[in-house]
Amino acid sequence: MVRIGVRKAALNEVSAGMIAVGLYENENPPEGLGGAADVALTSEDFSGKEGETALLYPASGLMAQRVLLVGLGKRAAFNAEKLRRAAATVSRRAISTGARRAAFALPALEDEGVERSAQVAAEGASLGLYRFDRYKTGEKDEREIESFDLILDENSDEESATAGAQKGEKLAVGAALARDLANEPSNTATPAYLAERAREIAEHHGMGCTILDRSQIEAEGMGGLATVGRSSANEQRFIVLEHRKGGDSAPIVLVGKAVTFDSGGISIKPSSGMEEMKFDMSGGAAVLGAMETIGSLDLPLNVIALVPATENLPGGAAFKPGDVLRMHSGKTAEIISTDAEGRLILADALSYARRYDPAAVIDCATLTGACVVALGHHASGLMGNDEDLISEVRAAGERSGERAWPLPLFEEYTEQIRGDYGDIKNSGGRPGGALTAGAFLKEFADYPWAHLDIAGTAWGDKDNAYTTKGATGTPARLLVEFVMGRAR
Ligand code: BES
Ligand code: MN
Ligand code: ZN
Repeated sequence: MVRIGVRKAALNEVSAGMIAVGLYENENPPEGLGGAADVALTSEDFSGKEGETALLYPASGLMAQRVLLVGLGKRAAFNAEKLRRAAATVSRRAISTGARRAAFALPALEDEGVERSAQVAAEGASLGLYRFDRYKTGEKDEREIESFDLILDENSDEESATAGAQKGEKLAVGAALARDLANEPSNTATPAYLAERAREIAEHHGMGCTILDRSQIEAEGMGGLATVGRSSANEQRFIVLEHRKGGDSAPIVLVGKAVTFDSGGISIKPSSGMEEMKFDMSGGAAVLGAMETIGSLDLPLNVIALVPATENLPGGAAFKPGDVLRMHSGKTAEIISTDAEGRLILADALSYARRYDPAAVIDCATLTGACVVALGHHASGLMGNDEDLISEVRAAGERSGERAWPLPLFEEYTEQIRGDYGDIKNSGGRPGGALTAGAFLKEFADYPWAHLDIAGTAWGDKDNAYTTKGATGTPARLLVEFVMGRAR
């Protein structure tokens, strides 16, 4: 990943392959570009609309070879997320033009300091360059940029901006790790593979790491995780990372669903689109990505990651509808659909989390198709048992650009999953599918808890400003923002 630098300079004195300058809709260009932008503006080729760009080759007066005008939209509507997108537009364009050294005059965010604008610009610039092409054997786009500098005006504090840029880079590294893990196909990204990657994170950042294998999971009484993975040759794992930098304070626990492939099991899914179910470990990937960033930022808190990792396959040893499982907490779960497997493995992880006497637990999971129907691809579903925690998670979502929107967990949803032969059923049928899944998890959380259903946000079917088709890394940055918020 390219290093994001920070320096102060007049725009005409920036020597670079490309200097990018953000312009608000229908406003004049900043000083220091000479007349370079004038023709683009007066010719109406460029008006500053969000996402609009114009590439100029100024003949003289500037030390940069190219000038990229980037539309920021209306000044009053400009915000951190738009800055991430603009920065990604700049870094991508720097690659496609062949400008090896890129610079971006850092736009200010109203009511927020230069540290934050540098952070989000670094996130966007860095994530905009993300590619997953390791399995392409033919011609690959190997173009890279050498440097990406944020250019500050003379009144900005360089130290704050540098701190922000470094934070942003580390957030991007964690998000990119989450994307890599999720984009990896299930023949590579097995539960054991995820455990190995978790071990690397622990080694790099001095974290504790415990991996439970199949027999240890059984011995621990994790009936959900033991059962879902029972028929797979790639055996399940339970991954525990412990970042202990907060003295004896109560930890934050992050839980991520990692079903490395969800065929549905005996309640098998339709084959069309089933390849997308390699992404069913995106929650676990995001938790590992967040831990990478939390470790490299050395945040002064205790943070525990719990990642139940398994495949969900049919087979002679597979669990079946009608089975009743004894879960880690002691409750029994009656299986209506073996395709509602995520809640089974999460329930065991949530129950396991009790031993930490946690200050807060946040789980994230590609849990229900119903959540995709409810919110589409623009927000994760947010549920929980603690209004303050829900607000805090929602605010972290806003700050990170990984939005989460609250959904209810009324008692009626718990009624809907009352068991006939066991305590609770693992499916409440189609109505309110995201909420009955949340209600199921709620039975296992007896501490402040929030749940993120990321089924609609964890991957996408097309490139966006700073994401590519495939895994988005969501909600790795949300989780880090949450932890950073607690560290303040
Ligand atoms: N991993 C799926 C949820 C999912 C579906 C995520 C589509 C992203 C896109 C989950 O394990 C599942 O299969 N859920 C079922 C639950 C149902 C059987 C109660 C669903 O949503 O259909
Ligand atoms: Mn499923
Ligand atoms: Zn699943």
